[in-house]
Amino acid sequence: MPFFEIGIYNVKSAGNVGTLWRSAYQLGAAGIFTIGKRYQGQPTDPFKTLRHIPLRNYENFDDFLNHRPMGSVLVGIEQGGTPLSRFHHPPQAVYLLGGENCGLPNEVIQKCNSLVSLEAMIRQSYNVAVAGSIVMYDRVFGDKDQSYNNPASRIAGNNSDLESPAK
Ligand SMILES: C[S@@+](CC[C@H](N)C(=O)[O-])C[C@H]1O[C@@H](n2cnc3c(N)ncnc32)[C@H](O)[C@@H]1O
Repeated sequence: MPFFEIGIYNVKSAGNVGTLWRSAYQLGAAGIFTIGKRYQGQPTDPFKTLRHIPLRNYENFDDFLNHRPMGSVLVGIEQGGTPLSRFHHPPQAVYLLGGENCGLPNEVIQKCNSLVSLEAMIRQSYNVAVAGSIVMYDRVFGDKDQSYNNPASRIAGNNSDLESPAK
C-alpha cells in the first residue's frame, strides 16, 4: 500500500504543527515530522492525534535525509513548482513544507525530487498548515487516475472495501 508522510522545515508555530498533524491523520498519512524544531504538543487536540500517527523530529536537514523512508520520493511544497492541479503524486511520497518565516531554502529545494505549488486566485502564499492540508487532500481525493487514490473507499465511515464479517 502506498504511504506518505508530511513535515515542516523550521516551523515557528506549534499551532500549525497541530493543525497539520490533525489533517494528516484525517487523510491517512503514515506520519508527520519537523526538521529543526521540536513540537511540544497541544493539550487541546480533540482527536488526540499523537495516539494515532507518529510525529518525529529531525535535528537538521541532513539528519532528515539520512533517515527518510527508503524508496520514498521527496516532494517539496513551495511556490515555483508544478501546479498542484497538474501534479501526479508519487506512490511513496514524503512532502516537505517550509516554515512560516523563510519558506524552503534553495539548498533544500535542490535536494527535492519534485516541487509542487498551489495555485491561488488572489495572493499566492497560504498558511503552511493549510498548504499541506490542500496537498494531502489532493493526493487522496484528487481525480488524477492514480491507482492508489480511491476516494470512495476512504470516506470516513465507508467500509465498503472491507470484507464482510463472518456470519
Ligand atoms: C507562509 S509560507 C512562507 C512564506 C514566506 N514568508 C516566504 O515568502 O517564503 C510557508 C510555507 O507554506 C507553503 N506554501 C504557502 N503557499 C504556497 C503555495 N502557493 N505553493 C506552495 N507552497 C506554499 C510552503 O511550503 C511555504 O514554505
